[in-house]
Amino acid sequence: MKTITLVPGDGIGPEIAESVKQVFEAIKAPVRWEQVECGLTAYEKTGQLMPQEFVDSFNRNKIAIKGPTTTPIGGGHRSINVQMRQMWNLYANVRPIKNFPGLPSHYSGIDMIIVRENSEDLYKGIEYKISEGVAQGIKLITAEASERIGRHAFELARKLKRKRVLVVHKANIMKYTDGLFLDSIKKVSANYPEIEFGDMIVDNCCMQMVTKPTQFDVIVTENLYGDILSDLGAGLIGGLGLASGANIGDQHAIFEAVHGSAPDIAGQDKANPTALLLSAASMLDYIGELPLGDKVRESIARTLANPETRTGDLGGKLGTRAFTQAVIGNVK
Ligand code: NAI
Repeated sequence: MKTITLVPGDGIGPEIAESVKQVFEAIKAPVRWEQVECGLTAYEKTGQLMPQEFVDSFNRNKIAIKGPTTTPIGGGHRSINVQMRQMWNLYANVRPIKNFPGLPSHYSGIDMIIVRENSEDLYKGIEYKISEGVAQGIKLITAEASERIGRHAFELARKLKRKRVLVVHKANIMKYTDGLFLDSIKKVSANYPEIEFGDMIVDNCCMQMVTKPTQFDVIVTENLYGDILSDLGAGLIGGLGLASGANIGDQHAIFEAVHGSAPDIAGQDKANPTALLLSAASMLDYIGELPLGDKVRESIARTLANPETRTGDLGGKLGTRAFTQAVIGNVK
């Protein structure tokens, strides 16, 4: 039995977190939940967006499933997602992009994973106003962080028996920064002879993702390119309700959906829990329970394949609770 920190979060968070709990119970996942609050709900109760109870729980368990959290507007509050990435050095943002057979989308047969470097590049926040009308931002790339994300991508490819890793860059123009990123990943690739290695320039990659997305397997890329490519990927497979993600470091990992707290539909039993369920399935892979992860993914696929058992965002008629029951009914 593994203890996992569970943060239901805000808005639709508690509804979709409940769905994860029920599906995990149905598949008898060897997981015990330690439920703690973060975000607006926590702030209203304790005056803190990230209460010490969460910090202690996550330090202890090292793995969390997190529902979306609302960052209060105004008052100088920093996004707790950014804080969490920095506090626990969660340097890899991993987003699987896979479409479900039978669910209408732009393409069929898409099955890629985008591994985005989460700690440097233009997101380092080194920005200056030099004078009126002139500003400068610095793109920071280090061999250490580039090799680290390269190893993460290749290790993931090996674990999931993937065939190819593609590094996406713009080294033709940014010869020092992107050149260093490309060279670092190339160096790492030598340790994984069984996995095919290639590289692609980011603008071409965008075009190829839209015209021939089935060619991609594992993509490893810098922070900004990864941010853009992963949202492009979410659009390709049918939208936010289906896009899962994880923020992973050497010691800690947080699994969460890409979408936010959707206050417009909160508390109405309308949310699609698929993205958080898929994130939870990736958590099962991460703790070595790959067959159980597959079980969750397969039951979701069976559920989405039937137009009668889809949620409203996908044109269906089921609410969160009924959809969860349908997924449980499809567990084999
Ligand atoms: P959002 O992703 O919450 O919602 C955008 C649209 O997609 C809304 O119409 C919503 O109803 C719909 N939607 C989102 N998830 C859905 C689901 N599972 N099922 C059905 N429909 C869904 O983005 P928005 O409105 O920009 O942000 C709302 C709040 O969420 C903000 O406070 C923002 O800061 C926060 N947020 C939190 C994130 C996190 O904790 N990881 C990530 C993104 C935003």
